[in-house]
Amino acid sequence: MTKDSQKTFGRAMRSEFFLEPEYTPLNHGAFGAWPRALLPVLHKYQMEAESHPDRWLRRWLYPELDSNRQRLAALIHCHPEEMSFIANASHGLCSILRSFPFNKGDKVLCFSTAFNVTERTLTYMKDTHHCLTVTVELAYPLSDQAILDKTRSIIEEEQAKDNGRIRLAVVDAISSTPGVRFPYEAMVRLLREYDIMSFVDGAHTIGHLPLNLHETDPDFFISTCHKWLFTPRSSAILYVPKRNQHLIQPLVINEFYQSPQEAANSVCNFQAAFDWPGAIDFSNFLCINAALDYRASLGGEEAIQAYCTDLAQKGGQRAAEILGTQVMENEDRTLSTCMINVELPLSNVSKSDHEISQTFVDKLMYDYHALVTVYKHNHRWWARFSAQVYNELDEFEDVAKALAKICKELEA
Ligand SMILES: Cc1ncc(COP(=O)(O)O)c(C=O)c1O
Repeated sequence: MTKDSQKTFGRAMRSEFFLEPEYTPLNHGAFGAWPRALLPVLHKYQMEAESHPDRWLRRWLYPELDSNRQRLAALIHCHPEEMSFIANASHGLCSILRSFPFNKGDKVLCFSTAFNVTERTLTYMKDTHHCLTVTVELAYPLSDQAILDKTRSIIEEEQAKDNGRIRLAVVDAISSTPGVRFPYEAMVRLLREYDIMSFVDGAHTIGHLPLNLHETDPDFFISTCHKWLFTPRSSAILYVPKRNQHLIQPLVINEFYQSPQEAANSVCNFQAAFDWPGAIDFSNFLCINAALDYRASLGGEEAIQAYCTDLAQKGGQRAAEILGTQVMENEDRTLSTCMINVELPLSNVSKSDHEISQTFVDKLMYDYHALVTVYKHNHRWWARFSAQVYNELDEFEDVAKALAKICKELEA
């Protein structure tokens, strides 16, 4: 598709999605949204399953899964045999963290900005498997180098102690709150220097950033497709290079599980084990090809990502001007992507943090028919705006004005 034949991005595209026309959706990063063009594809697969469940689930499903897997693997630069479909990123986080072969006293490195599922699962692992979490505290805005330096010094401090070693680190590619890009490629290299395995939570990556998994070479990697690739929820992938596939198990143990003695004498069952979480509706995964076709019809990955990144930049700046605050950025401008974080003018509020964040959700959603993610970081309140092909600059302005009013009401 040539540039000239690209569709016009912006509000005019809203009708291509199911979103309510009067809704101002600046929160794509939370749960994604998918285009109407995929509905016939989704229904076709659901009907094939219903018209002959046995033939579908025993035979016809697998070539379809493989065809979608191959095209996605080419996009993210990995071998199809290193990729499996999983329901969502939470599922991937729990599968890896709960099955990784930790020994008592092993340590796991993570960052204070890790997704809540990571933090809670590591707490669960501490309670049940006695592995300890070493947390690197991050207070943004930070440069990539500052994050890498701080991590290196904490690793060296921990490895000098005589109480177990760090075996695994969980690293975001783009964290949730703040919604910022993390220097995950350099972090994977740094961890390798210390013989620490890397687990990259790339929940926000596919459809948001170009990926080259063979080049980055993490030990484990997850991404959703339902957030930024436009596939129906729930659809996500787990990437595990062959060298690590024997180390982990899916959350749901099925007929493909091999005990260590069995595994020693046979081929690893990674893909079969992860691809079958029991009988579910697999149609969401089979919409990946159609989502990629749709994205090609919009001008392709580069055009989509360029529009969204540019809109986030401009929209974030405009929102900061309206709010009289600042965008969360560092000097090298590496933090913002298709998501941008803007400080809120909010200080003296006598409500709990939970009450404040819920007030923003309710007022934005019900009074203003809009949404962005509001959160507290480094003692200040911030709004995370997501830019998508169906958004325009004036929507950032409208939501910034709404946020300013809610801040005043909360402070009154
Ligand atoms: C960084 C990160 N990891 C994991 C998740 C969980 O994603 P899912 O809802 O697909 O399980 C999210 C969700 O927003 C996220 O932002």
